[in-house]
Amino acid sequence: MTQIWTPDSWRAKPVRQMPKYPDADELADVERQLETLPPLVFAGEARRLKKRLATVAAGEAFLFQGGDCAESFAEFSANNIRDAFRIILQIAVVLTFGGSIPVVKVARMGGQFAKPRSDDNETRDGVVLPSYRGDIINGLDFTAESRRPDPQRMIKVYHQSSSTLNLLRAFVQGGYADLHRVHQWNLDFVDSSLQGERYRALSGRIGEALDFMAACNITAETSSQIRETDFYTSHEALLLPYEQAMTRIDSTTGDWYDVSAHMLWIGERTRQLDGAHVEFLRGVKNPIGLKCGPKMTADELLRLIDVLNPANEPGRLTLIARMGDDKIATALPNLLRATKRDGRNVVWCSDPMHGNTHASDSGYKTRDFTHIVSEVRSFFDVCRAEGVHPGGMHVEMTGREVTECIGGASAVTDAGLGERYETHCDPRLNATQALELAFLIADYVKQGRKVVEVG
Ligand code: PEP
Ligand code: CO
Repeated sequence: MTQIWTPDSWRAKPVRQMPKYPDADELADVERQLETLPPLVFAGEARRLKKRLATVAAGEAFLFQGGDCAESFAEFSANNIRDAFRIILQIAVVLTFGGSIPVVKVARMGGQFAKPRSDDNETRDGVVLPSYRGDIINGLDFTAESRRPDPQRMIKVYHQSSSTLNLLRAFVQGGYADLHRVHQWNLDFVDSSLQGERYRALSGRIGEALDFMAACNITAETSSQIRETDFYTSHEALLLPYEQAMTRIDSTTGDWYDVSAHMLWIGERTRQLDGAHVEFLRGVKNPIGLKCGPKMTADELLRLIDVLNPANEPGRLTLIARMGDDKIATALPNLLRATKRDGRNVVWCSDPMHGNTHASDSGYKTRDFTHIVSEVRSFFDVCRAEGVHPGGMHVEMTGREVTECIGGASAVTDAGLGERYETHCDPRLNATQALELAFLIADYVKQGRKVVEVG
């Protein structure tokens, strides 16, 4: 029999990746404060995203989810939010136009602050301190004071997320996302690159299409699809005290929603069937994601789906495969077969980042663009071989010109990683690399649609 769910029923389950707050009273006080703060998103918006994801599950649309590995207090600025928004818009345009498919845009923004870590502690020169777990928990500086988990950081994250969402909503509705501005979304440093050139050519063609539509009386004034865009936020639901405090009953439906973001996902390290994170997310009605690593078995996956999407509702569950380019061809087919054979309505999406992280010769945590591309290519191949819709991409990237991942046409080298290595956690694609990846994905999407149409 299924146990009764409540926003705090996760507390009775084994919980991984949770910081040890030194002051329990202070933590409880912060949770109470958060409970009184207004929602960051509306339940109706989360339902709209679920509907759009249902079209992805049906093979009629493509999901693009991207943004920082970890947002931070230090990188918080209007320009950074604008640049992240711009690159997501650009990628969506490349995929929509190049792949001829509607794109659902979900940002890793406005709440992506908590990080799972492989080790609880970090040792430097014989000094042992708690690992950095993201700005919502502790600080990156290697001092005892900074690494102490501080619940007040949750309040700061709430307010930073609120400002981020406010600006994103203004961009979405205030004219910035109008398709007539498509050529202006190119960032300066991207503009001079080969990818920038390709993007300019594409925006020229979109401009011609818009002129044609205007002649048919379809303009920004007559059509909100040209003037505005749909844009959603997401993060890993890792820090459960924060997520619980942001969980409210929706007055329209009487259902529980986690109103800290439209979509929440469960990470690879916290997806235990009997664990606290699965328990928490099974009870909220948001669309949710589940990371699937190379060790997951088909049986384990089906049992997790039973718990997370018992009604088999399309759009509710997105499975995010993060296998590694050397493992995907052997690890993914079984999982695809299992969901297909059992008629499970899910979105299958690829995260080509988290299985491809390694230490470079110069000592930086990095990813190779060729490995990322190879995992993406394999994802499309394997999905097609199994007759499953390759439904989306989940990417860590930034609108800034960082040097964190090696390769791509902009040719970041191992020796050059130190130039602008700014991430708080995992290495991100810079805007040029992200755009290059988008052109490749658009080609794969298009090839597949031809195969489906002909076959
Ligand atoms: C992440 O998406 O930042 C992450 C930690 O991923 P995973 O859980 O797949 O390792
Ligand atoms: Co990451």
